[in-house]
Amino acid sequence: MSENNRYTLITGGTEGIGLELSRLFAKDKHNLIIVARNKERLEKVKKEVEKEFNIVARILSIDLSVNNSCEEIYRFVEKNNFVVDNLINNAGIGSFGSFHELDMEKEEKLIEINIRSLTKLTNYFLKKMIDEKTGGILNVASTAAFLAGPKMNIYYASKAYVLSLTEAIHEEVKDYGIRVSCLCPGAVQTAFQNKAGIMKNDKTKGLMMSPKEVARIAYRDFKKGKVIIIPGFKNKLLVLGNKLASRSLGRKIVMHSNKSK
Ligand SMILES: NC(=O)c1ccc[n+]([C@@H]2O[C@H](COP(=O)([O-])OP(=O)(O)OC[C@H]3O[C@@H](n4cnc5c(N)ncnc54)[C@H](OP(=O)(O)O)[C@@H]3O)[C@@H](O)[C@H]2O)c1
Repeated sequence: MSENNRYTLITGGTEGIGLELSRLFAKDKHNLIIVARNKERLEKVKKEVEKEFNIVARILSIDLSVNNSCEEIYRFVEKNNFVVDNLINNAGIGSFGSFHELDMEKEEKLIEINIRSLTKLTNYFLKKMIDEKTGGILNVASTAAFLAGPKMNIYYASKAYVLSLTEAIHEEVKDYGIRVSCLCPGAVQTAFQNKAGIMKNDKTKGLMMSPKEVARIAYRDFKKGKVIIIPGFKNKLLVLGNKLASRSLGRKIVMHSNKSK
């Protein structure tokens, strides 16, 4: 086993895009710190990557929607004298419905995970990377970041925040030798949509990318230092089309498409 103190920290590294990213970093001999809630899945992924790729995987069962969860992560890293040289803020949840009908307790969780924990972890580990003059941060947003999202209003807004924040930080720290990238996938075949109460029919499933393919492109482009990573030709086209169209047309299209879900 590769026993050094350098780690890639990945949130939500047990399922979907995060699991595939865990596998890719491990394959390249990065030790991992994986954060998610479900202990069984954490143990399973740890066993798999340690056996298959001969690396060390540390697992933290932490709910990122809970106050002080980020502090728990810093304490674990500090206590063990680990260096986090790649931070992958991947964990995120979605939600669906008209804004005035939303359950605010659930929405607060979304904001805690998609925005607050991503911001705090980025701030904490970026400072360390600047001291070390090396490192990389990959924040996972969505093509939703480029549009207003009727019926998925808070989710789209949360991803717009992630994209804007990540681009700004990229510009601020690029001269320190630190890579800061934002991954913006379109719909991906994971459990995410069901968990969020989206996509009640299977019609569009064939158009979705696999998490493996999304992670492959994300990993490759992150290593190259690309700032905004949009996997897949159709998604690139969608983002380009959105740039050319008016915002009012964009939000009408999203409303129409989300209404039919
Ligand atoms: N799938 C899509 O269509 C799609 C499209 C664009 C962008 N994205 C973005 O891609 C990222 C990953 O999505 P995915 O589709 O791979 O999701 P997924 O398959 O649902 O996996 C989510 C991961 O996050 C962890 N997680 C969820 N809530 C958590 C919490 N409160 N605390 C800690 N960990 C938590 C989950 O583990 P536990 O449940 O064990 O905690 C799991 O490992 C998200 O940021 C999402 O917004 C997804």
